[in-house]
Amino acid sequence: MTSGRDPKKFDPSRAHALDAPERERFLPTELLVTLLELRGEERVVDYGAGTGRVAVPVAEALTGGGEVIAVEESGEMFERLVARLSGTPNAVPLLVHDNQLPIDSRSVHRVLAVNLLHEIRGESALGEIRRLLAPGGFVLMVDWERGRERDTGPPDHLLFTAAEAEAELRGAGLRAEVLDTGLPFHFAIKGA
Ligand SMILES: C[S@@+](CC[C@H](N)C(=O)[O-])C[C@H]1O[C@@H](n2cnc3c(N)ncnc32)[C@H](O)[C@@H]1O
Repeated sequence: MTSGRDPKKFDPSRAHALDAPERERFLPTELLVTLLELRGEERVVDYGAGTGRVAVPVAEALTGGGEVIAVEESGEMFERLVARLSGTPNAVPLLVHDNQLPIDSRSVHRVLAVNLLHEIRGESALGEIRRLLAPGGFVLMVDWERGRERDTGPPDHLLFTAAEAEAELRGAGLRAEVLDTGLPFHFAIKGA
């Protein structure tokens, strides 16, 4: 019997993998926060926030009155997110449907999207990200790169190469630049 689950979407029964300590070895949270170039007062959207692993340290870096809106479409993941963010006043969980975010256009300074791009293939999410970005703002798009030898992460056939991901962002009307991060399994792209 098939479960009816979309194979490109994260399976909530694997939520523990998002919080695995060994993830720091190949995708350090601190690096993700650094790449966001925060001053402290920004409004940040964490798109596909999962368990909130990255949203919490981003919120902690927003010491100048900024906030993180942690966006999820999965009800199961959202429940975990609400619990994780409950002690972090400037991190707000938001359950969304069909990439329609009830957030004003051009009001978001950073969008963080970690391990999300391959899950939104064919959806309208990149257009929504472009709509949200304030002048001078950017999206940090980080995802597993197809073709990198590894024994963890999603199957290769679901993934993009960095060049393909860059083209996806450009196709949505964003200026895209692949960042040289040295990450072993992931690309990082800044889109504005
Ligand atoms: C692989 S997990 C990564 C979670 C988190 N960014 C991290 O790095 O730990 C991807 C998450 O994005 C969520 N997601 C996928 N498509 C989405 C969409 N269109 N809108 C909102 N959330 C989405 C999934 O439910 C899942 O929790």
